[in-house]
Amino acid sequence: MNILKFDCIDSTNTYGVTHFDELHDKTAISASQQTKGKGRFNRVWISTKSENVYLSLILKPEKKDYLPNLTQYLSVVTAKILETYGVTPEIKWPNDVLVNRKKICGILSEGVLEKNKLKGVVLGIGINLNMDKSTIDRIDRPATSLNLETNAGIDKDLFLHKLIEEFFKDYENVITHGFEYFKQDYLKYVKFLNKEIFIQQRDGSEKIQYTAKNIDDNGNLIVVDKTNKEKIIFSGDLIY
Ligand code: BTN
Repeated sequence: MNILKFDCIDSTNTYGVTHFDELHDKTAISASQQTKGKGRFNRVWISTKSENVYLSLILKPEKKDYLPNLTQYLSVVTAKILETYGVTPEIKWPNDVLVNRKKICGILSEGVLEKNKLKGVVLGIGINLNMDKSTIDRIDRPATSLNLETNAGIDKDLFLHKLIEEFFKDYENVITHGFEYFKQDYLKYVKFLNKEIFIQQRDGSEKIQYTAKNIDDNGNLIVVDKTNKEKIIFSGDLIY
């Protein structure tokens, strides 16, 4: 396992994107603290030195078709590991992991291009393992951490190693077969189907109400609107 470990860095994803060409395929970059942790939709990912996971993986496979599915695959891998700590995780489409309806893990994939050609991705993940209540309360949406849910301190290095190991167990299969390879596993953690939900394309934009109907074989969300018209959602944020 090739892990580059930093004590403090701006962002493991930014490091991965900036140094992409020098880093070997499958390099893991981990930090104890990030000063500019990034989330989806340009949000800030609070990255205090509190024994959390801040990890980015450098991925440069030959076959690039299914790179977009890796975020959902990583959410399944994370949910499976969280279960072993006695909590009941759920996945909120596309790839947030929640416990008790509060976010415990976020995933951000950044594509790296050369002359409009995709070279690979930097797949980043933040997992709240050990965070005190006052730090959690600074997060502007419902959030939690594994220590708050289990009342036990969590060994970060152990978690990190399990995560990387489990991710690479089926990585080649996902690169070859895409979402279909792990769809049944993904569905086990989904609780929003046949529920009224909202989709928001970006922060501040309109929240549109739908009924969530299904997940297609590419990992997209199938919904129906108020007039019963079916629509496929390719990206965005699902809000309960
Ligand atoms: C989200 O908004 O849900 C995605 C959060 C992703 C955070 C991780 S922490 C490690 C990596 N480095 C970053 O700056 N972001 C990702």
